[in-house]
Amino acid sequence: MKKHLYILFLLSAFLPAYGQSRQNIEQKIEAVLSKMTVREKVGQLNQLDGRGIHGTIEQLKELVRRGEVGSLMNITDPKIVNQLQEAACKESHTKIPLIFTRDVVHGFKTMLPIPLGQAATFDPDLVKEGARITAVEATEHGIRWSFAPMIDISRDARWGRIAESFGEDTYLTGQMAVAVVKGFQGEDLANPQSMAACLKHFVGYGAAEGGRDYNSTYIPERQLRQVYLPPFKQGIEAGAASIMVSFNDNNGIPSTGNKYLLRNILRKEWGFDGVTLSDWGSVTEMIRHGFAEDRKQAAEIAMNAGLDVEMSSKSYIQNLEKLIAEGKVQETALDDAVRNILRLKYRLGLFERPYTDIHKPKETYSAKHLAVAKKLAEESVVLLKNENKTLPLSANIKSILITGPLADAPHDQLGTWTMDGEPGKTQTPAKAIANLYGNKVKVHVVPGLTYSRDKNQSTFDEVLRMARSVDAIVAFVGEEAILTGEAHSLAALNLQGAQSELIKQLSATGKPLVTVVLAGRPLTIGKEVEQSDAVLYAWHPGTMGGPAIADILFGKAIPAGKLPVTFPKEVGQIPIYYNHTNTGRPARGNEKSLDEIPLNAQQSVLGHSSYYLDIGSKPLYPFGYGLSYTSFEYADLKIANTRLKKNDTLSVSVVIKNTGQYTGTEIAQLYITDQVGSVTRPVKELKGFERVALNAGEIKTVHFNLPVSELAFWNSVMEKTVEPGKFKVMVGTNSENGSEATFEVL
Ligand code: NOJ
Repeated sequence: MKKHLYILFLLSAFLPAYGQSRQNIEQKIEAVLSKMTVREKVGQLNQLDGRGIHGTIEQLKELVRRGEVGSLMNITDPKIVNQLQEAACKESHTKIPLIFTRDVVHGFKTMLPIPLGQAATFDPDLVKEGARITAVEATEHGIRWSFAPMIDISRDARWGRIAESFGEDTYLTGQMAVAVVKGFQGEDLANPQSMAACLKHFVGYGAAEGGRDYNSTYIPERQLRQVYLPPFKQGIEAGAASIMVSFNDNNGIPSTGNKYLLRNILRKEWGFDGVTLSDWGSVTEMIRHGFAEDRKQAAEIAMNAGLDVEMSSKSYIQNLEKLIAEGKVQETALDDAVRNILRLKYRLGLFERPYTDIHKPKETYSAKHLAVAKKLAEESVVLLKNENKTLPLSANIKSILITGPLADAPHDQLGTWTMDGEPGKTQTPAKAIANLYGNKVKVHVVPGLTYSRDKNQSTFDEVLRMARSVDAIVAFVGEEAILTGEAHSLAALNLQGAQSELIKQLSATGKPLVTVVLAGRPLTIGKEVEQSDAVLYAWHPGTMGGPAIADILFGKAIPAGKLPVTFPKEVGQIPIYYNHTNTGRPARGNEKSLDEIPLNAQQSVLGHSSYYLDIGSKPLYPFGYGLSYTSFEYADLKIANTRLKKNDTLSVSVVIKNTGQYTGTEIAQLYITDQVGSVTRPVKELKGFERVALNAGEIKTVHFNLPVSELAFWNSVMEKTVEPGKFKVMVGTNSENGSEATFEVL
């Protein structure tokens, strides 16, 4: 065994990794490092913005020539990229190339659905394809390092950045993290079409108290390791080249200065040899946190904690030399950080090919890219309700009204973080429906409201007149892109402006009403769902959202998306997520509603269980929920071996039948409940899912194989272990609905 490992080690040292052998890279790093001055070393750790706030391009060139900057953000003109690169590679003393970086989060020019929408596809292969085309477009523009994927577990829809996340679940987020890393980085990071991924934000940022952005978090170590850290570990195992720390302080320590996270967990436990990067200004924000006295101390804390590259705030370049001279920072710590950024530059092949090929034919907005964007948008749509088979719109429908502020909102449907997305290229639902189906139905477009916060109802009469004259109404409501994303938290999650009123009045016409929601987060739309015959949740679907939604409305595509996050009925239920632990008095499900509470009743008359008097215990929609135009039945759940040892694999099968009229895809979900533990365990946890395509009437047996080792958790003495005992397995259509069986781990 040992011999095998040794041979493997030798092979991995000499086999080409990223175009050249690892050993070679390490030797080259040492050779370069030995010729660098302390200032040049610090310069490599300095990341600046190229949009003017840190000087003009000419001034930046000067800094580059002096070796005082190692990477540049937000320059997307490949000609300027090449000019600056020339200053680095030809005119600086070290000749070290720059890296050009940007927030390429869900598409570069061809915008894909927001990540929360991508998560709803439960289709990591397609998400990987989306990330690949994104890398192709971004690298054409000179960008080789993206600040994505964002893999913060997000359980609070008030937090605007939930849009950027893959939702509330650790397992699903982990799958998506790996997909994006592999898509961005490709087979070989040195390929000029590959882009370094950056797992962010390390860690716990999504748990911001009250959903207020940047807020403190209080995540105990067990939960950190169980819920928040695994997607990072998986991303690193998939080869992620970098990690960005988070803005929050967890349990009183800002991530930017958290040695335990950056040195112990990341480097020692996980063996990460990529780059750690601050968030924008997060080094000097430690002063505001009350964790550093001044910029110099902030630099000292961050560097000693193990933070390699500082984004934007320049405290390293201003202070690290002094700190080293004073002995407050060891030069060895600086060298290690520089090794990490040089390693990334070698891995990207920048020493060999620093320039962006501006003559290569462009693939941006190619038919292939638009097709991937459309497929992702299509798969991301979740059908929440479909009463009386309102959808798909039948051939009997001769005329429709398209209304609502999001029907033709080319900017807003692109969603948050669309730095390079172009509204001019967006295909909106209103236009797509008219273009693709205008020959089948008469399409009338009357928006009623011009944007989501619009309260002006002066055109409602016209909308209603038209509504009464058509066979069906499709109302596009939701939220503008600007209401989501960084620093855009909301305390109320109802539809903004007069949108609810619009839905109410449309519903009162008695015409079939389809409501399509375009939003960056779960909205509390219980009332509007009741008033609508059918509801589609389409997130912010990106450039190709229009044709994707049009095809779904008319049945050319069948919705299959599932919610990657629990939808609350009311904001007051937050945090609400499916894999919570149980109380000693869980809700019974038959609790009295507010109206049923007797007058002058004694305190104990309602019993003692965990629920809200006014809205009960259930969410509006559970995690994993989503309907189809067809219907599926689950039967015959079987476990091959119900008594398993720790190194066995649980083998589960279930029979799924398409009992409806359409070909469709069901996303079968496997959940595990560890019934008794040395610490309380979640009521259930997603451990697998499978996309199952079935023709009408077709039956398939779906198999899941889950190594028992995947049932490990951080036990009462903080060891990651599988505890023997009884487990439940559920396979079903969402986190609340499925067939169950039990098994035992010996
Ligand atoms: C702040 C955000 O938190 C981070 O995600 C982003 O990458 C940086 N700004 C750079 O734009």
